[in-house]
Amino acid sequence: MSPAAPVLAIDGPSGAGKGTISRAVAKMRGWHYLDSGAIYRSLAIAVARDKVSLDDERAIVQVANHLDLAFRCDDQLIVLLDGEDITDRIQSESCGNDASKIAAYGSVREALLHKQRAFQQPPGLVADGRDMGTVVFPQAEYKIFLTASSNVRAERRYKQLKGKGIDVSLKRIRSELEERDRRDTARSHAPLVKADDAVLIDTSEMTIEEVIKRVVEVVSG
Ligand code: C5P
Repeated sequence: MSPAAPVLAIDGPSGAGKGTISRAVAKMRGWHYLDSGAIYRSLAIAVARDKVSLDDERAIVQVANHLDLAFRCDDQLIVLLDGEDITDRIQSESCGNDASKIAAYGSVREALLHKQRAFQQPPGLVADGRDMGTVVFPQAEYKIFLTASSNVRAERRYKQLKGKGIDVSLKRIRSELEERDRRDTARSHAPLVKADDAVLIDTSEMTIEEVIKRVVEVVSG
């Protein structure tokens, strides 16, 4: 880890636009990008592959300790698990829900800490997740908490999945999203919470361009 590399931590609930905004800002600045949710999602795939129960915290930590993950970031993030491309598989709602269940275990989070911190490299890092500004990079120079109403977030997610040809119901997306928010916010280990020193941006009524502009303003001081 290089202490010299600045970090922009972007946290917030599912569907607030963190991924789109983080990737765009990382690209503009030429900084690295950490999609921490993709790490939890990939672990969920590895846990299912190894036929480990979602209730077996100890066994999940073992899988986490041996997780062989590689990321490639172009316009889209490509995720390789043991060399196999799992980019499409980690997008599903069921994978997100499994990820949220295993992410509630403190020992699992601990096992994934160094993997996430290793992304802090010059010239800088945009880190996207739930606890980037509170736990993983508490010293981050810039912190943003991105949110939006659950209606708006569900609609965005619905359009995104429809656009990929995935057949989903808006009602179901919304209830799963709210359930995931509840679990992420209520858990005792690294719950989803705005860091005291994070700038709050509600994107409900904003375009992507407006949000990017606002984030760049925060980073530019
Ligand atoms: O951001 P994404 O929806 O891909 O994350 C999937 C799940 O992983 C979240 O619902 C959350 O439970 C978990 N997660 C987390 N901490 C992070 C990133 C994701 O607990 N930093």
